This record gives sequence, structure tokens and C-alpha cells, in this order.
Amino acid sequence: MSHSAPAAAKTLLITAGPTHEPIDAVRFLGNRSSGRLGVALADEAARRGWAVTLLLGPVTRTPSDSRVRVVRFRTCADLEALLAEEAPKCRVLVMAAAVADYRPKVDPAFFGGKFRRKNEKLTLELEPTPDLLAQVAAKRKPDQLLVGFALEPREELLASARQKLERKKIDMVVGNPLETMDGESIEAIVLGKDGTEVRTGGVLSKTEFAPWLMTIIEQRSGRAG
Ligand code: CTP
Repeated sequence: MSHSAPAAAKTLLITAGPTHEPIDAVRFLGNRSSGRLGVALADEAARRGWAVTLLLGPVTRTPSDSRVRVVRFRTCADLEALLAEEAPKCRVLVMAAAVADYRPKVDPAFFGGKFRRKNEKLTLELEPTPDLLAQVAAKRKPDQLLVGFALEPREELLASARQKLERKKIDMVVGNPLETMDGESIEAIVLGKDGTEVRTGGVLSKTEFAPWLMTIIEQRSGRAG
């Protein structure tokens, strides 16, 4: 299939889990994302007949539905390369991965692979990572639906989620409070670029949330393009 051909109607690409950004050969900067939500979403979508590819970070949880195609990543750079390959082929992208915003600017070769303990202060220099979702959005096709996540302090949730929707030029943002990361449950607000606002109306488990969100995605992707 050529890259300019329209993606098949029910192709879903999901990213989930944290990134691990190496500090040296054995250490990394990461976050507490469990991948639970993205994995639940992948299972639910496969059950509904979507062709699902899950780009999954370094977590132990995996989908139970064998129809989900799983490709693993570790770093933001790995995920960037996978998205360049996979994003043009999907109709819907759900970017649930907790991608690092900064990564260590170190050359492991310089330290012989591993930092050695010294009795002095050590400063780690960080560099910003590219915004992967914004990169995909810049090359999007008109019939694609791009969904991002915003993990925010409760008081800033609505305003920050709305800002992310506009800044990243995507179609939907799932806003949820900080405690959602690594938790069992979710209380979300879904904002659409058309101004729509849908709330879970209370706390749902992540397995209950998956069908709730898939229903919204199916309604919106039916309208896209
Ligand atoms: N994201 C991404 N690339 C990054 C960082 C985040 O594609 N380098 C995606 C996440 O997968 C998520 C969305 O962008 O879907 C929001 O991530 P978040 O870290 O909350 O937003 P940031 O753009 O990093 O904004 P801020 O740091 O101001 O909260």
C-alpha cells in the first residue's frame, strides 16, 4: 500500500506504557505508567473487530487477545521510529504512552558504559525530547483521528487538556487527574476539537473505561474523513 492511500477504516494504533531513557548502560529515567489502560483498550478494540497494533513500552502487562499485534519500544527514539512507520497506516491513533519530556544527554561510551561512584556531586544534563504526537499530527491525513492524553493536576485539568488539544493539533484529548497513572481506576473528561466535552461521570475501572472510550472513538472515527 502506498503511503498516500487511505488507511483501512478499522485500523487502530495504540501506544502505551512508559519510556525508559538511558542514563548509562544499566540505568534509566522512567515513570510509573503501567500500560494498563492502553492494553485494555487494545483488547476491547480487537474484540470489536478492529485491526489493532499496540506499541508497548517496558511493562509486564500484555494484551490477552492474540489478535493484537504487539511491537515493543524502550525509548522515545524507538517510539519515534515506530510511529514514522506505523502512523501513516492507521485510521485512528490513541497516544496513551507516557513519553518522557526530557532525556539524559549522555554518551555511555564516555563513561565506559556505567557511571562509577565518586565522592562528589554529579549533575545530569537533560535535553528535551520531540513531541511525537505533534509530529504525527503535522503529517496527518484528513481521514485520520488522533487521540492524545493529558495527565494533569485536578485543578488544571480542563484548561490544560484544552491547550494540548490545540497545541498538538489533534482531534480528541482524554484528560485525567495525576493519580490515574499507575492506578486501577480513571475519572476522565474527553474533549473534542469540535468543542464537545464528555465526562465519565465518576470513577471507572480501567477495564470499564476501555469500552466507554472505544464507543466514543467509534462514533468520531465514523465521522472523520
Ligand atoms: N507525548 C508525545 N511526545 C512527548 C511527550 C508526550 O507524543 N515527547 C504525548 C503523550 O503520549 C500524550 C500527550 O502527548 O498523549 C500529552 O502528554 P503530556 O506529557 O501530558 O504533555 P506535554 O506535551 O509533555 O505537555 P506538558 O509537559 O506541558 O504537560
